[in-house]
Amino acid sequence: MSSLRNSLVGITAAVVVVNVTAVCAADEVTARSTNTAASSATSFIERGRYLVEIAGCNDCHTLGYAQSGGQVPESTWLTGDSLGWRGAWGTTYPRNLRLYMQTISEDQWLKIAHTAQFRPPMP
Ligand code: HEC
Repeated sequence: MSSLRNSLVGITAAVVVVNVTAVCAADEVTARSTNTAASSATSFIERGRYLVEIAGCNDCHTLGYAQSGGQVPESTWLTGDSLGWRGAWGTTYPRNLRLYMQTISEDQWLKIAHTAQFRPPMP
């Protein structure tokens, strides 16, 4: 269980980095791509992309991902889905994780990832 939580921390930290990178001007990103910090950020993003894919986050948090076998643009990854999951817990909806991560700090997320009790079917 703690390895799942550790994966969640890594994945979501990478989502935050992707969001931050996405708002940078394209020429700024290009200029930074030659320095070490950019290389480090790039490998961090690649690691996050890999973790998101193997952990299946897109299956629920991306509209149409599971139904199409993953054939959706990466720009739509983790933007949430309106499909509700109903059970004894009520009805839950996979949130837009890109927006969610912008509302909390990295420290807040680390605390949430280690302590939160998400309702089903959130792993
Ligand atoms: C089987 C479907 C499913 C999968 C797979 C899944 N989630 Fe979720 N996730 C949900 C649902 C549904 C909720 C809403 C739970 C609730 O309301 O309590 C949720 C909630 C969350 C939340 C909390 C958002 C909030 O509003 O508090 C985070 C963060 C999150 N998921 C991240 C992830 C990550 C990262 C992965 C991949 C490791 C993942 N989820 C995989 C269905 C899923």
